[in-house]
Amino acid sequence: MRIAAQWDPAANVCLYRGDTLDLLRAMPDASAQLVITSPPYNIGKVYERRRKLGLDEYVAAQRRVIDEAVRLLRPGGSICWEVGNHVTPDGIVPLDVVLHPLFARHTDLRLRNRIVWHFGHGLHCRSRFSGRYEVILWFTKGDRYRFDVDPIRVPQKYPGKRAWKGANAGAYTGNPLGKNPGDVWTFPNVKANHVEKTIHPCQFPVELVERFVLAVTAPGDLVVDPFMGVGTTACAAVLRGRRAAGAELVADYVRIARARIRLAARGQLQTRPIDRPLHEPDPRSALARRDGSAAASARPRRKRAPTQGLRIASLALAASGSQLPSA
Ligand SMILES: C[S@@+](CC[C@H](N)C(=O)[O-])C[C@H]1O[C@@H](n2cnc3c(N)ncnc32)[C@H](O)[C@@H]1O
Repeated sequence: MRIAAQWDPAANVCLYRGDTLDLLRAMPDASAQLVITSPPYNIGKVYERRRKLGLDEYVAAQRRVIDEAVRLLRPGGSICWEVGNHVTPDGIVPLDVVLHPLFARHTDLRLRNRIVWHFGHGLHCRSRFSGRYEVILWFTKGDRYRFDVDPIRVPQKYPGKRAWKGANAGAYTGNPLGKNPGDVWTFPNVKANHVEKTIHPCQFPVELVERFVLAVTAPGDLVVDPFMGVGTTACAAVLRGRRAAGAELVADYVRIARARIRLAARGQLQTRPIDRPLHEPDPRSALARRDGSAAASARPRRKRAPTQGLRIASLALAASGSQLPSA
């Protein structure tokens, strides 16, 4: 009953504030076409500090969520689990390697890709190379599965390339819709001035979820995110005419998610467009070069307007009396 009350019919989204297992266990078998998430990593983010799990406990908790996710996935549907590394003083633990056996024990799951999402920004490490990628394990339930790459094709490097011999000599060789994006995806993570940035420390970029929504679901399908954060998966689903459901423990994130989802349903959520090329700095700009002049570096910085994501967060939290954490 509590879960049904979270349904927003205008957006076709069920957002549950509470433990993900409560939501997942209330969902019927074979109801979702896509389960996509970035689980908590147990790496000490604010929302993980209440009780930090040991790695074994963490894996056991992930196993319960994964088992539910597989149960509620339709045959032919997809599960995408996006993870990075668990960083310890003794070394890093690649979480996709640790979690893979939890999926592999479901004999109807097939690993289709291990996608590397590469991004340019993050902490600069002093004692190892700075981490600049995360991994998405993409499984399908069974061998007959939905996959349509056409809506997410990307421009070829040489679209004007032609066949030089054979029956097609002189014709363009590439698909006119563009090429398959491959299994290394490069687009920005949601940091600093990214238009989608809210107060969440590790939001998905909407475009990451959109790629899967477009490739492995049809309009009207249900997309589930067990760890919804500030609702990025639901926003991507709503923007593309799919239904969504997900859970989140932190009340402030749920408030922000609701506000973002409402804007997405009205077509007013600003996102980084899925076809936007990576930003290349203007080589003549002050940021792209050093001219040795102290005066130039001492120039006062222009104050930027807050991103739409931060404005949404600020309004959503003010309405509930919560404080926006200082940047
Ligand atoms: C890596 S973040 C996901 C961020 C999300 N992809 C987004 O774009 O906002 C993981 C989220 O899971 C939430 N979480 C952790 N344990 C949970 C649980 N047992 N049930 C529901 N949510 C949980 C955390 O509060 C956190 O916001």
